[in-house]
Amino acid sequence: MPTCSASLPSLVKLMLDATDVRDGQRVLEIGTGTGVTAALLRDRVGVNGRVVTVEVDPGLSASAQARLEAAGIDATVVCGDGLVGWGTDAPYDRIHVTCGIRRIPPPWLRQCPDGIIMLPWGTALSGERDRVVALRVRDGVGVGRFGAEVSFMKARSQRLGSWGDWPDNGDTVEADLPVRWDEIESPLEPFGGFAMGLLLPGLTYRLSGGGAEERVLWLKREGAHASIGFGDGHKTTVEGDTRLSRDYAQAARWWHDRGRPHPERFGLTVGENEQRAWFDHPDGESWAL
Ligand SMILES: C[S@@+](CC[C@H](N)C(=O)[O-])C[C@H]1O[C@@H](n2cnc3c(N)ncnc32)[C@H](O)[C@@H]1O
Repeated sequence: MPTCSASLPSLVKLMLDATDVRDGQRVLEIGTGTGVTAALLRDRVGVNGRVVTVEVDPGLSASAQARLEAAGIDATVVCGDGLVGWGTDAPYDRIHVTCGIRRIPPPWLRQCPDGIIMLPWGTALSGERDRVVALRVRDGVGVGRFGAEVSFMKARSQRLGSWGDWPDNGDTVEADLPVRWDEIESPLEPFGGFAMGLLLPGLTYRLSGGGAEERVLWLKREGAHASIGFGDGHKTTVEGDTRLSRDYAQAARWWHDRGRPHPERFGLTVGENEQRAWFDHPDGESWAL
């Protein structure tokens, strides 16, 4: 599994713009990698600013530090887990994250209580399709709407485990779900998959086959397993945890009823004790993550 690469230059710029780094600011980067982003951040903050960058991999951290020193770039390189931030030099005006995140670590909100935290966000279900989100933090609460799609290597401790063995789920029974057979799969399409991941935190899936023939959607969430059998001219059936198959079907119903909304209609509100996703507006319809 690849663990580090320099990102596409246009993507690096898009993310630097989203972080909106200004002259003289103090910036914490998470995921030093090659060190090139730290160098660009240094350029943006100017001589009166400060850049600290944290990398979890000791080898990468040491080579980035040597590279930055050789180029005469003044950035503090820290080897450690970026998910706890770096309290020693806090507070920061900006936190610029370059590894994919599925849950925002509360220390970041404490270390950047008034500023911007920019990160690539994804869910268990969205896979490699992350979205950039710039959280504007005021008094320790961050609010931001999802933006451009990006694909990032996940923070090491937030990688998904393997799919694992499928348990014997007992009998297959005919289902009474609030979706037609042709509404079951479509919410998993790229745009929908992002929204469904917000509606159903922790959910992962596998799907068999293609076309109109009978197929199976396998669902897994926090130790619960369920599958849904469906297809044109076939009775829809379920197996396993009925709450899980019903939650999936209700989320799919929600997505269809809202007109298959684009991911950029969603956003995040993150505080010390609560992370919520919202639809259209921070004060609108929302649900805990
Ligand atoms: C896409 S690369 C970053 C590219 C980098 N910004 C650059 O300019 O080259 C992602 C980096 O995040 C690092 N990483 C993953 N989990 C981390 C964690 N928990 N704390 C700090 N760094 C982490 C990886 O080792 C990898 O170097």
